[in-house]
Amino acid sequence: MTLIDGKALADKMAIALKDKVDALKAKGVTPGLVVVLVGENPASQVYVRNKERRALTAGFKSEIIRLSEETSEKDLLALIDQLNQDSQWHGILVQLPLPAHISEEKVLLAIDPEKDVDGFHPTNMGLLWSGSPVMMPSTPAGIMVMLDEYGVDIAGKTALVIGRSNIVGKPMAQMLLDRHATVTIAHSRTKNLAEVAKQADILVVAIGMGNFVTADFVKPGAVVIDVGMNRDENGKLIGDVKFDEVEPIASLITPVPGGVGPMTITMLMEQTYETAKRTLGK
Ligand code: GUN
Repeated sequence: MTLIDGKALADKMAIALKDKVDALKAKGVTPGLVVVLVGENPASQVYVRNKERRALTAGFKSEIIRLSEETSEKDLLALIDQLNQDSQWHGILVQLPLPAHISEEKVLLAIDPEKDVDGFHPTNMGLLWSGSPVMMPSTPAGIMVMLDEYGVDIAGKTALVIGRSNIVGKPMAQMLLDRHATVTIAHSRTKNLAEVAKQADILVVAIGMGNFVTADFVKPGAVVIDVGMNRDENGKLIGDVKFDEVEPIASLITPVPGGVGPMTITMLMEQTYETAKRTLGK
C-alpha cells in the first residue's frame, strides 16, 4: 500500500479535536476563527466555505467576513485592527490572493502575530526559521504530520522541495531541515530539474502545474508529496504529479484530491485551538 490517505487522517484528527474543544469550552473558552475574503475569486470562495464548515464542525465560533473587490486597503487594515482587539477571535485569516490594489505585505503585517493562524506574519516566519516556531503555515505543517503518521524517516534523508512560495515551499524546506533532512529548494529556473529531483528520498511538489512531475523525476522508493490543486481541460482536479506514472515507483504518495488538501484545513483548526488554549488564565 503506497497511498498516504490525508482524508482519513484528517477525519481521525477532527474527532480528537472535537473532544479537545469540548474540554476547552467547559473551561469557558470557545475557539474563534474569523476569515476575511476580499472579492469574488471562485477558488477562494470554496476554500473559505470549507474552512468555516470545518471550524463549525469542530465546535468553534466562526464567521466569514466578505468584502467587495473594491474595498480599499485602508478599510481592510481598519477591519484587521478591530479584529485584533476583539477577544472572541483567536485566529484571523485573510484569504489570499488579495485584489491587486491591496498590498499583501501590509495586510499580513497588520495581523496580530498571536492571532496569525496562517503563520504568514514576518514575526512568525522568523520564529520558524530560527527554530522556535509558534504559528506555522498549515500546508507544510500538515505534510509533516502525514510523514510522521506514515513512519517516514526524515533525518539524514535527501529532500527536494519544488516551489519557493512563502505559503508552502520556504516553510516546508525549513520544517524538513529542522528534522535533519538535507534540503534543496528547486523552482522554475532550476536547471536539469528531473535529474535533481531523482536524487531525492522525499520529494515535495508545490509548483501549480498539472501533471508536471513524471516518472523520470522520481527515485525508486521515494516519498512523493503532491501539493498541486490544478484543473485539467475537463475541469477535473489534478495534482502537480502524474499520479498513475509515479505511484508504481514511489514507496508512498499523496493523491489529489484526498491527500494534502484535507490536512491543510486540519492544521489550521489545530492551530486555532492551540491559540485559544493559550488564552486560558490570561
Ligand atoms: N490562499 C491559498 N492558500 C492559502 C492559505 O493557506 N491561507 C490563506 N490565507 N490564503 C491562502
